[in-house]
Amino acid sequence: MPESGIEGVAAQFLCPAEALVDGGSGVRFTVGINTRQVGAFAVRFDGAVHGYLNQCAHVPMELDWQEGQFFESSGLYLICATHGAMYEPDSGLCVGGPCRGASLAKLRIEERDGKVFWVPEAPYYPAEPAGDA
Ligand code: FES
Repeated sequence: MPESGIEGVAAQFLCPAEALVDGGSGVRFTVGINTRQVGAFAVRFDGAVHGYLNQCAHVPMELDWQEGQFFESSGLYLICATHGAMYEPDSGLCVGGPCRGASLAKLRIEERDGKVFWVPEAPYYPAEPAGDA
Protein backbone atom coordinates (compact mmCIF):
# COMPACT_ATOMS: atom_id res chain seq x y z
CA MET A 1 0.00 0.00 0.00
CA PRO A 2 1.46 3.41 -0.95
CA GLU A 3 2.52 5.79 1.77
CA SER A 4 0.29 8.75 2.42
CA GLY A 5 1.53 12.30 2.40
CA ILE A 6 0.36 12.53 6.03
CA GLU A 7 2.07 10.55 8.76
CA GLY A 8 -0.14 7.76 10.07
CA VAL A 9 -2.70 8.12 7.27
CA ALA A 10 -2.85 5.39 4.67
CA ALA A 11 -3.36 5.99 0.98
CA GLN A 12 -6.98 5.40 0.08
CA PHE A 13 -7.92 2.79 -2.51
CA LEU A 14 -10.31 4.30 -5.06
CA CYS A 15 -10.80 1.73 -7.81
CA PRO A 16 -9.07 -0.83 -10.01
CA ALA A 17 -6.94 0.85 -12.69
CA GLU A 18 -9.16 -0.47 -15.50
CA ALA A 19 -12.18 1.34 -14.03
CA LEU A 20 -10.72 4.64 -15.25
CA VAL A 21 -10.72 4.80 -19.04
CA ASP A 22 -8.96 7.63 -20.87
CA GLY A 23 -11.49 10.46 -21.28
CA GLY A 24 -14.22 8.30 -19.75
CA SER A 25 -16.27 8.31 -16.59
CA GLY A 26 -14.68 9.44 -13.36
CA VAL A 27 -14.79 7.86 -9.93
CA ARG A 28 -16.31 9.95 -7.17
CA PHE A 29 -15.13 9.86 -3.57
CA THR A 30 -15.26 12.03 -0.47
CA VAL A 31 -12.51 13.89 1.35
CA GLY A 32 -12.56 15.60 4.72
CA ILE A 33 -11.51 19.23 5.18
CA ASN A 34 -11.55 20.14 8.86
CA THR A 35 -15.05 19.03 9.89
CA ARG A 36 -16.54 19.22 6.39
CA GLN A 37 -16.91 16.43 3.89
CA VAL A 38 -16.41 17.45 0.29
CA GLY A 39 -16.91 15.52 -2.93
CA ALA A 40 -13.92 14.71 -5.11
CA PHE A 41 -13.26 12.73 -8.26
CA ALA A 42 -10.56 10.95 -10.21
CA VAL A 43 -10.31 10.62 -13.99
CA ARG A 44 -7.81 9.32 -16.52
CA PHE A 45 -6.41 11.55 -19.25
CA ASP A 46 -3.60 10.83 -21.69
CA GLY A 47 -2.88 7.66 -19.74
CA ALA A 48 -2.39 9.30 -16.35
CA VAL A 49 -4.77 9.55 -13.41
CA HIS A 50 -5.74 12.93 -11.97
CA GLY A 51 -8.00 13.97 -9.12
CA TYR A 52 -9.70 17.14 -7.94
CA LEU A 53 -12.26 18.36 -5.49
CA ASN A 54 -15.64 18.15 -7.17
CA GLN A 55 -16.15 21.88 -6.84
CA CYS A 56 -16.25 24.28 -9.74
CA ALA A 57 -13.89 27.27 -9.46
CA HIS A 58 -16.79 29.54 -10.46
CA VAL A 59 -19.41 28.63 -7.85
CA PRO A 60 -18.67 25.74 -5.47
CA MET A 61 -21.06 23.33 -7.20
CA GLU A 62 -20.29 19.78 -8.29
CA LEU A 63 -19.17 19.55 -11.90
CA ASP A 64 -21.02 16.42 -12.99
CA TRP A 65 -24.72 16.73 -13.70
CA GLN A 66 -24.73 13.07 -14.64
CA GLU A 67 -22.85 11.25 -11.94
CA GLY A 68 -19.29 10.49 -12.97
CA GLN A 69 -19.49 12.40 -16.28
CA PHE A 70 -16.71 14.99 -16.06
CA PHE A 71 -15.44 15.16 -19.63
CA GLU A 72 -17.10 17.11 -22.40
CA SER A 73 -17.89 15.24 -25.60
CA SER A 74 -14.40 15.43 -27.16
CA GLY A 75 -12.81 13.89 -24.07
CA LEU A 76 -10.18 16.66 -24.05
CA TYR A 77 -11.54 18.86 -21.27
CA LEU A 78 -13.37 18.52 -18.00
CA ILE A 79 -16.55 20.55 -18.02
CA CYS A 80 -18.78 21.98 -15.34
CA ALA A 81 -22.36 21.15 -16.25
CA THR A 82 -23.77 24.27 -14.57
CA HIS A 83 -22.32 27.13 -16.66
CA GLY A 84 -19.90 25.29 -18.91
CA ALA A 85 -16.48 26.08 -17.43
CA MET A 86 -13.82 24.00 -19.24
CA TYR A 87 -10.78 22.68 -17.41
CA GLU A 88 -7.55 21.04 -18.52
CA PRO A 89 -7.77 17.49 -17.16
CA ASP A 90 -4.09 17.29 -16.22
CA SER A 91 -3.65 20.69 -14.54
CA GLY A 92 -7.18 21.64 -13.48
CA LEU A 93 -6.74 25.07 -15.05
CA CYS A 94 -9.94 26.67 -16.33
CA VAL A 95 -9.36 27.54 -19.99
CA GLY A 96 -12.87 28.67 -20.89
CA GLY A 97 -16.02 29.88 -19.22
CA PRO A 98 -16.86 32.18 -16.34
CA CYS A 99 -13.84 31.30 -14.16
CA ARG A 100 -11.15 31.30 -16.87
CA GLY A 101 -7.69 31.38 -15.27
CA ALA A 102 -8.86 29.83 -11.99
CA SER A 103 -8.17 26.19 -11.15
CA LEU A 104 -9.79 23.16 -9.62
CA ALA A 105 -8.27 22.05 -6.31
CA LYS A 106 -5.90 19.22 -7.22
CA LEU A 107 -5.52 16.03 -5.20
CA ARG A 108 -2.66 13.55 -5.30
CA ILE A 109 -3.73 10.44 -7.16
CA GLU A 110 -1.40 7.52 -7.81
CA GLU A 111 -1.68 4.31 -9.76
CA ARG A 112 0.19 1.29 -8.45
CA ASP A 113 -0.06 -2.43 -9.06
CA GLY A 114 -3.21 -2.07 -11.11
CA LYS A 115 -4.98 0.03 -8.49
CA VAL A 116 -5.76 3.74 -8.15
CA PHE A 117 -5.17 5.45 -4.82
CA TRP A 118 -5.80 8.88 -3.40
CA VAL A 119 -2.78 9.92 -1.33
CA PRO A 120 -4.12 12.33 1.30
CA GLU A 121 -2.15 15.52 1.77
CA ALA A 122 -3.07 18.42 4.06
CA PRO A 123 -5.55 20.00 4.18
CA TYR A 124 -7.39 16.99 2.74
CA TYR A 125 -7.89 13.99 4.98
CA PRO A 126 -9.87 10.78 4.62
CA ALA A 127 -13.51 11.50 5.37
CA GLU A 128 -14.85 10.02 8.58
CA PRO A 129 -17.02 6.99 7.86
CA ALA A 130 -20.72 7.86 7.99
CA GLY A 131 -22.15 7.34 11.44
CA ASP A 132 -18.77 7.49 13.13
CA ALA A 133 -18.98 9.75 16.15
S1 FES B 1 -20.75 26.66 -11.37
FE1 FES B 1 -19.34 25.78 -12.76
S2 FES B 1 -19.32 27.14 -14.44
FE2 FES B 1 -20.63 28.09 -13.01
